[in-house]
Amino acid sequence: AKPISPDFSECTTAKEPGGSTTINCCPPRSGTEITDFVASATQAYERKPAHDASETYIQQYSKAITKMKSLNLTDPRNFYQQANVHCVYCDEGYPQSGYPSQKIDVHNCWFFFPWHRMYLYFFERICKNLLDDDTFTLPFWQWDDPSGMVMPGLMYNDTTLSLYDCLRDPNHLPPTVIDLAFSRKDRMKPPIAPNIQVNYNLSTMYTQMITQSPTPQKFFGKPLRAGDEPDPGEGSIESMPHNGVHLWTGNPAQPNREDMGALYSGGRDPIFYAHHGNIDRMWYIYNNVLKGKNITDGDWLNSSFIFYNEEAKPVRVKIQDSLDITTLGYTYPDLTLEWKKYKP
Ligand code: C2O
Repeated sequence: AKPISPDFSECTTAKEPGGSTTINCCPPRSGTEITDFVASATQAYERKPAHDASETYIQQYSKAITKMKSLNLTDPRNFYQQANVHCVYCDEGYPQSGYPSQKIDVHNCWFFFPWHRMYLYFFERICKNLLDDDTFTLPFWQWDDPSGMVMPGLMYNDTTLSLYDCLRDPNHLPPTVIDLAFSRKDRMKPPIAPNIQVNYNLSTMYTQMITQSPTPQKFFGKPLRAGDEPDPGEGSIESMPHNGVHLWTGNPAQPNREDMGALYSGGRDPIFYAHHGNIDRMWYIYNNVLKGKNITDGDWLNSSFIFYNEEAKPVRVKIQDSLDITTLGYTYPDLTLEWKKYKP
């Protein structure tokens, strides 16, 4: 058996996408004793679509992010340090325990869904804690439905809120309809009529969730076991719309379409957490609506990652602890899935 875990004591600088400069995204070491995570929520609160959020909710969420941004930089719960937690797990900052020459990347492999679920879980816990409100939940950017196919502007495009980020594509702000299958080449594409783009997006959703996801491995991505070279291959949703939404949102005038267009900087844009809320919701829909099965391989279930909890303490989470979201204290509403009718 070869489950993976990071060598937490050996964080190194990471490579920037182009490979020219190195970036240090090792979060501060805080707390030495790593405890094992136990999923033990007794109540599940519903996450809500970002474009539908009330003014009160938006203010409250913005307040949580302001608080995260003003925590000391030596605190791993600080907003930029949380972005670094993503950076370090995507740009190969940690070696694999027992295999010092092999690095870890949680993308392009079967850890994509569960790692990001747990990352959002702790981010949500930190918000709850800073707001002193256990009922608080993260929003999701419902880009799979026509009603959510523009950037949720009231929440993310208001320069007075801490949810705003200036490093985004100025041509993709509301009311531009998103292209879920956006790729770097698409910069040259002539604009498509909004209603046609919506239809393309709905067929993209059908294709990725159903046609391209006939087996758990196709949905989750290829196995990565201890000792393996990272990046064996991504699952259907990771390639699209996950990558498409990242690239579409980031600023093309930046070298790597920062913030959202590059993995190392994605977490610096607060919209990242709404994008990944919907990615996580796709896993929920895959299980609960489409009746898709999870991977049962012990190497997947027993692999573990380390996150910082709301007390800034490191905790070790096994993939098997991420499978049931009600034990993590949240759930998703059962919304109409328009794309189910859009078989191309
Ligand atoms: Cu870890 Cu959307 O990437």
